[in-house]
Amino acid sequence: MAVNYLNKTKKIGEKTAGNRFAILPTESNSAAPGGLPSDKTIDRYKKFAAGGAGLIFCEATAISNDARARVNQLVLTAENSEAFIPLVDAVKTENPDAVFVIQLDHAGALADPSFSKPVAVYKGEEGDTPVLTDAQIEEVRDAFIQSSIAAKKAGFDGVEMKICHGFLGNDFMQPRNTRKGRYGGSFENRARFLIEAVEGIKKATGDEFLIGLRLPAYESIPGGFGTSGPDEVIEDLTEPIEISKMAEKAGVSMISVSAGNASGNLDLIHPTPNYPDGVYRHFGWAAAIRKAVSIPVIGAGYSYLSDGKTGMGSWSYWAEKNLADGRVDFVGLGRQGFADPALPVKLLGGSPDKVNYCTACLGCGVLLGGQKEVKCVVYDA
Ligand SMILES: Cc1cc2nc3c(=O)[nH]c(=O)nc-3n(C[C@H](O)[C@H](O)[C@H](O)COP(=O)(O)O)c2cc1C
Ligand code: SF4
Repeated sequence: MAVNYLNKTKKIGEKTAGNRFAILPTESNSAAPGGLPSDKTIDRYKKFAAGGAGLIFCEATAISNDARARVNQLVLTAENSEAFIPLVDAVKTENPDAVFVIQLDHAGALADPSFSKPVAVYKGEEGDTPVLTDAQIEEVRDAFIQSSIAAKKAGFDGVEMKICHGFLGNDFMQPRNTRKGRYGGSFENRARFLIEAVEGIKKATGDEFLIGLRLPAYESIPGGFGTSGPDEVIEDLTEPIEISKMAEKAGVSMISVSAGNASGNLDLIHPTPNYPDGVYRHFGWAAAIRKAVSIPVIGAGYSYLSDGKTGMGSWSYWAEKNLADGRVDFVGLGRQGFADPALPVKLLGGSPDKVNYCTACLGCGVLLGGQKEVKCVVYDA
């Protein structure tokens, strides 16, 4: 089909992406010791850059060793920013116009105790995981700011705060976060961690450096984000819409919309053949957030579409339609990035039949869950 929208440029803050494809952050668990970019990391991002996406997110990168969910996760701190320069250089050499943003995270209660240090936002969140004090929360917030300064030094165009999938930043915002003090209870208190971090990053990195936000519109767990109360489970987008507006005001330059929770419902994060209609729910969530803000919105969940598998059109059909109808500004490639990082260049070059379409089997996710190095088990033998 004709490409009318995927090939259009788009401004994000002071930067401009050359088209509407976004490589979503996807952990590969393949860093060198110390959480530094390895040759495999560099090779992976070179392929994304050569694949032609206008916006590339580097995978979830921990703000400290203790914040890791994966044994070989990238870690970016004030001490190691120089080690990330070859990664940025490799991407910019391959495609000087690519906007390259690194996702920062703290795994919180999902950190693995065998090599990391699980911490909870509120009591009972994950068994008897120790709960952070307000002072410790401020230390974590400041570590996000320090990692952002390090990202700028390394040459990234921006950072993305991972506030989704049940990681630490996500759990502050859940209505079931009824902790006492400044970081729990009221909506304003639950939003405080994110807003303080964004304001701090903005102040430390200036106006040109991008700050992205990855948000779960609806976690689909009792008292999760996207519900209206600590023991409610029915979807209510009031708070996701409100936090998106607050984040824009605080200096966020783009919002990537996701859903689900890693400890609750993986099929909602990445729709599989068990849950194909999740794709259309993702479309609706992204559209609802986009209506509320004036910054670019990135959509997810497209990998299941493959090539007409749903019977309602192909990957490019829905990508074009959602862009044309103003439901998103960028179409995200999650698992599809493992299956074929060159999808953008193949579609823009008029060869959709040459794409290795992701089958949404989630074999890559199984590798990640087992702390193995991640690859596509279908195409990357
Ligand atoms: C192996 C794997 C690793 C992932 N790593 C991340 C990550 O680092 N950060 C993040 O926000 N989402 C991560 N995700 C979720 C994806 O970014 C994406 O939202 C999801 O796969 C849905 O998009 P898709 O249908 O195109 O795959 C990961 C997903 C998979 C399968
Ligand atoms: S392993 Fe399966 S889900 Fe993952 S990228 Fe390959 S085809 Fe897609």
